[in-house]
Amino acid sequence: MNFDLGGDLPAFVQYAAGQDRQPAPRQERAEDTPVWVSFSNEDIKGLGDAFYFKDQDAVFKNRNASVFLAKTSELGLLNGLMHAKYHKCAGFFTHSTPDSAKDDLQPPPVSASLAYTIDKKDQVEAMLKLAEEKGLTGTINSLSAFKNRYYTSVTGVDSSKWLQNRWKELAGGREDISVAAFKHSNWAQESVILTVQGASEPQKIIVLGGHMDSIARGGDNSVAPGADDNASGIAALTEAIRVLAASGYRPAKTLKFMAYAAEEVGLRGSQDIAATFKREGRQVDGVIQFDMTNYNGSAEDVFLITDHTNASQNAFLANLVRTYTDYKLGETRCGYACSDHASWTKNGFPASFPFEAKFSEDNPNIHSAKDTIAQSGGHSKHALKFAKLAIAYLVEMAK
Ligand code: BES
Ligand code: ZN
Repeated sequence: MNFDLGGDLPAFVQYAAGQDRQPAPRQERAEDTPVWVSFSNEDIKGLGDAFYFKDQDAVFKNRNASVFLAKTSELGLLNGLMHAKYHKCAGFFTHSTPDSAKDDLQPPPVSASLAYTIDKKDQVEAMLKLAEEKGLTGTINSLSAFKNRYYTSVTGVDSSKWLQNRWKELAGGREDISVAAFKHSNWAQESVILTVQGASEPQKIIVLGGHMDSIARGGDNSVAPGADDNASGIAALTEAIRVLAASGYRPAKTLKFMAYAAEEVGLRGSQDIAATFKREGRQVDGVIQFDMTNYNGSAEDVFLITDHTNASQNAFLANLVRTYTDYKLGETRCGYACSDHASWTKNGFPASFPFEAKFSEDNPNIHSAKDTIAQSGGHSKHALKFAKLAIAYLVEMAK
């Protein structure tokens, strides 16, 4: 590479290589053109004081990489530093626009070892035995007792607080489990995130989610029990959390259970969260969405939504169903970004969405005062299948 040298290259290089005490001062040139350079944060750490950009000078930064505004004449200097320390030719990337530099802050690709294997049979089967319908019915009844769970209403906020407390109770005294609100700047209802810290690969994240809000004509003042849409999805997640805690199971990767606010008004809560995870460069190895699980409207039990989802992970889910259950499988399409899985897909993460029925045979009472558990027979037998699928998914994904 042939760069114009903007600083005292030999002095910097000696310093970076650990052969000298003081780095040479940075020099500037009048004719310089701006250039954006991105480095991995690990490389920056290793360079120590020889790296003359300071953290606060970063134009963008996430947990993997940082972007700095440099001058063309400095590239030779940077190249020399990186070569002396890491024996890499360059080892950083240059960009002529900040947008192209920003692209370097994308989440890393999913880990190469993500092979979608099924080999935790004893663990899964032991946990499946603990899953109970009564837990699901309890959650559906508690959530649908709020007049509505609309994203701007008082009861919408109260229901989020209720769920935070319920999940905290289930976490018990475990130090590796925490519950936090994810606050959104434009509305009052908070999303809820329960995290089970991974025991050996905590930076790898598996997300199990569903929306907590409900909607019906009338907004803030509506009667919107949302028993199926989507107290039933939150119930499946809550039962999986209960079983996880009761069994003493500890995942290798980090599990995040998410109850999203404001789905019914344009997937707003999940978009906020997925975009934040992308911006922060987090490694999300898999996402599963539970939205409507308790209305048994079709001959088959579990339908995999094929659009706005990840085909490889869907195939893995189908294998989980065949391995651990006798549920009949179907496939169906929404035809549009119908739920929060689409927020993750849009941000580059592999997402799946197992659904209660064929799209055309789903619960006809949603988004009205009639979306009660009575419309699902007053029980949670169908939702229990999804709680079990959540358990099989989390154990086989978080290993
Ligand atoms: N639970 C529904 C999505 C759904 C409904 C999936 C019927 C499959 C069958 C979800 O809560 C919802 O209502 N989504 C909105 C779209 C969203 C972008 C506001 C919808 O479907 O209109
Ligand atoms: Zn819904």
